[in-house]
Amino acid sequence: MLSKCRVASRLTRPVSREQLRLISSKEVIEKEDKYAAHNYHPIPAVLSKGKGVFVWDVEGKRYFDYLSGYSANNFGHCHPKILEALEKQSKILHHTSRAFFNDVLGEYSEKVTKLFGYDKLLPMNTGVEADDTACKLARKWGYKKKNIPKNQAKLIFCSENFWGRSLAAVSASTDPDSFEGYGPFMPGFSCVPYNDLKALETALCDPLVCGFMVEPIQGEAGIKVPDEGYLKGIRELCTKYNVLWIADEIQTGLGRTGKRLAVDYENVKPDILVLGKALGGGVYPVSAALADDSVMLVIEPGTHGSTFGGNPLGCRVAIASLDVLEKEGISENAYKMGEIMRKELSSRINKKVVCEIRGKGLLNAIVMNRNYAEAWDVCLQLKEKGLLAKPTHDDIIRFAPPLIINEQELSESLEIIVNTINSIPT
Ligand SMILES: Cc1ncc(COP(=O)(O)O)c(C=O)c1O
Repeated sequence: MLSKCRVASRLTRPVSREQLRLISSKEVIEKEDKYAAHNYHPIPAVLSKGKGVFVWDVEGKRYFDYLSGYSANNFGHCHPKILEALEKQSKILHHTSRAFFNDVLGEYSEKVTKLFGYDKLLPMNTGVEADDTACKLARKWGYKKKNIPKNQAKLIFCSENFWGRSLAAVSASTDPDSFEGYGPFMPGFSCVPYNDLKALETALCDPLVCGFMVEPIQGEAGIKVPDEGYLKGIRELCTKYNVLWIADEIQTGLGRTGKRLAVDYENVKPDILVLGKALGGGVYPVSAALADDSVMLVIEPGTHGSTFGGNPLGCRVAIASLDVLEKEGISENAYKMGEIMRKELSSRINKKVVCEIRGKGLLNAIVMNRNYAEAWDVCLQLKEKGLLAKPTHDDIIRFAPPLIINEQELSESLEIIVNTINSIPT
């Protein structure tokens, strides 16, 4: 065994990475490439630590995190209150299954339903499961309450929707990268153009339609913000034609767009609200579908479920995440920082290189002019300068930092973006 003073002298002497046997980015990438499926194409940053709005790679380089784990890390990395809840509950009771009651699910459900104004919550784990749950709810409601003939219920989605990668989700997709090679697809699914109330009305008049699922801002499509009045229009049309409106707020919800929910911008209430991502504070997968009793109670015991959904650990983490959302001015900060971000970028960025800047709160995107640069190459340059962002499609880069970002951090990170874009020759 090493004596204490030998350990101390070792710690004071500079130690090489080889002596410490620290793994390099290159080694990690090679290992992942060899043993993990090639279903993603990551920016080559190998992260080993995170705190607040920052992440560090295995070589110790610090980056601004401008993706926030696809908006799961709304409250930043390693938020102490969320970690405390995770740690504490993990030592008491982590999983029971819903074969029994646990002493957290009721408390959690009460908190979420009261916060968002619904009668009940159905707990799931990932976003795609909660969206799938919402679709199942709508179909069952269609048969039980709207008297749609057996197996004929139709669900309407929007072109360029994204709600995950399951067979149902890719059946609803209009992106060949998502659906090609995975058929046959779910029957009874069809799409209307986004932000088009006329097309929606034409689809909804069909008495076989039970539900319409839509993102209030389309995230993966490239942060597509609909016209003002679209959400109100959806509410009116769904009420008029007795169709359930399902709002997929998995990415837009919980402060991301500068309000608690993106639908709050138009003060409308969907029939089914779907939450995920940041509900688990970025530390644990937690998702939920919320609805009033007239909808939720069409699902009876034994007809839907999930082994992990509603487990005490996930519920405790979600309670802590919602506490942070409510008590730390998260939505307000996202609103304010988002205004600054778009204003600064609009006034300082070379408009030849960037054709459009759009978004709400801290869900923003720039659209590159591909005559001058590809989004992927710009992301690589941003990485070199200490900021991590990811393209959605070939020409769009999403800027979605944790919602706890302060003015100083915002200003420092915008400097990186502006310098990178403005150094692209035109
Ligand atoms: C709007 C929306 N819905 C659903 C999902 C799927 O969530 P998950 O990846 O947790 O299944 C995503 C993921 O990006 C999303 O953006």
